[in-house]
Amino acid sequence: MSITVRTFDAVIVGAGGAGLRAAIQLSESGFKTAVLTKVFPTRSHTVAAQGGVAASLGNSEEDHWHWHMYDTVKGSDWLGDQDAIEFMCRKANECVIELEHYGMPFDRTDAGKIYQRPFGGHMSNFGEKPVRRSCAAADRTGHAMLHAMYQRNVKANTQFFVEWMALDLIRDADGEVLGVTAMDMETGEIVAFHAKATIFATGGAGRIFYSSTNAFINTGDGLGMAARAGIPLEDMEFWQFHPTGVAGAGVLITEGVRGEGGILRNSAGERFMERYAPNAKDLASRDVVSRAMTTEINEGRGCGPHKDFVLLDISHLDPATIMKRLPGIREIAIQFAGVDCIKEPIPVVPTAHYQMGGIPTNYFGQVVVPQGNSKAAVVPGFYAAGECACASVHGANRLGTNSLLDLLVFGKSAGETAVEELRKSPKAHKPLPQAELDRAMARVSRIDTQKGGASVHETQLAMRRTMQKHAGVFRFADLLKEGVERIGEVRNAALSTEIADKSKVFNTARVEALELENLIEVAVATMVSAEARKESRGAHVRDDAPDTPAHPNGRDDENWLKHTLWYREGNRLDYKAVKLTPLTVDTVALKTRAY
Ligand code: FUM
Repeated sequence: MSITVRTFDAVIVGAGGAGLRAAIQLSESGFKTAVLTKVFPTRSHTVAAQGGVAASLGNSEEDHWHWHMYDTVKGSDWLGDQDAIEFMCRKANECVIELEHYGMPFDRTDAGKIYQRPFGGHMSNFGEKPVRRSCAAADRTGHAMLHAMYQRNVKANTQFFVEWMALDLIRDADGEVLGVTAMDMETGEIVAFHAKATIFATGGAGRIFYSSTNAFINTGDGLGMAARAGIPLEDMEFWQFHPTGVAGAGVLITEGVRGEGGILRNSAGERFMERYAPNAKDLASRDVVSRAMTTEINEGRGCGPHKDFVLLDISHLDPATIMKRLPGIREIAIQFAGVDCIKEPIPVVPTAHYQMGGIPTNYFGQVVVPQGNSKAAVVPGFYAAGECACASVHGANRLGTNSLLDLLVFGKSAGETAVEELRKSPKAHKPLPQAELDRAMARVSRIDTQKGGASVHETQLAMRRTMQKHAGVFRFADLLKEGVERIGEVRNAALSTEIADKSKVFNTARVEALELENLIEVAVATMVSAEARKESRGAHVRDDAPDTPAHPNGRDDENWLKHTLWYREGNRLDYKAVKLTPLTVDTVALKTRAY
């Protein structure tokens, strides 16, 4: 079947922070660059990032990239690759200053410098006390960032394809990536975007969970496409539950609230974090705080008629500070919790927020796949950055504000590497293999014509409930085992769904079915990887790997200091070593994590 082909030097899938940053690099270098996005760029999920972007600018107190690196390695529970972490922390200041020069309206200190606030797990002097490292535009940092970068792209002539959904990677027989197939969501037309460089910046897949801070568009499209193209997904067992989602709604309440002095309290009014993290208290890392909250609730000290949430209290702060630094939070609290946080505390629960794993990359943004000889091979023409990628800088637990940093640093890095590669090989585009184009057409046509399958909506719900119950904040060996079976059944249903009302097959129904096919790959990867990892580390805490003197916090470095790789084909797992050697400094030596 014939298909329209559009040819570019580079195609970027996703117009959130990572995609926009990569696009700036390519377009400003003179390369013809297309960005495909399911929503208008400034509505990408980066818009929801509230509290800030980490950089050791030291605008309000002394700070250093090496302290930031130490905190990030510790936050990752030593599963992060230390070369990539050093790279990211050293690049942070440059990337934030660049944003400032793009016109990003950061808040300011009295001295006119970028305003910085404390955030969980970010400490001075190798873990001594909280430090002001998060560079913030009130509580709308992601929003400001997207606008600044979108405008820069418009100036650089990046070509945006808005309301286009990428369907599948196009790979030739040598494994080289030659672009993507994509669907115009308005007309249903399928087009091949032919490119010498393909960059995935598709964000996360938090919608695999029932309760999530993620937008409805976060459906793991890049991960699904990569998995179908034979690329493994790395460290998918590690999911971050943000401590403060609005109870019952899941909407994010930034950690910046605690950075500005907010306190978590149980039904007795106790500041319970003092018991769990005597030093960092409410500003311990997210996994620690989420588990503490869940323990309080499980042990009967939750609030409300069902004792199923805790309270986030900022009523002791000056209302002027709330209005200046956290205006959006006040609005969210009023709209979604029905409380004015100037006077009353906000009911909050841990809520699925961020995937630490993703498509394996190096710190140049290139997708790398381990080979049989335990070496990694770069997938030619393929790059990934931001939440869909695993560089790996977050390891088993990400620190707040390191996500915006990750997408800036690795979006830029992927763009720079692609520019270098494009300059090296001015050769013509390789021909597109027809079979790859037919595959995309066949997938859409199957979805359109499938009869007698489960409904997309019911299958989505079954997936979300399964993930929430079997792979939540605390994990249980029996539930994980059962979860693998259950999610396998849901997957079979997801791959044979029927669009409900065929008289109205608008593309929204098709898009949801296509998205479900991506989500389910992420869900299976998560459950299988989590069941297999028989230790507790960072955000992955199992009942059969408890805290013992031999294995503090349940971590087992002897057997499990390694990255998981999940392959869709055969639903199989493999493992690869963690890079413990940084670029220029000494390794941050393994030790027990405490805050
Ligand atoms: O709490 C927040 O503002 C979220 C930040 C992040 O996930 O990095």
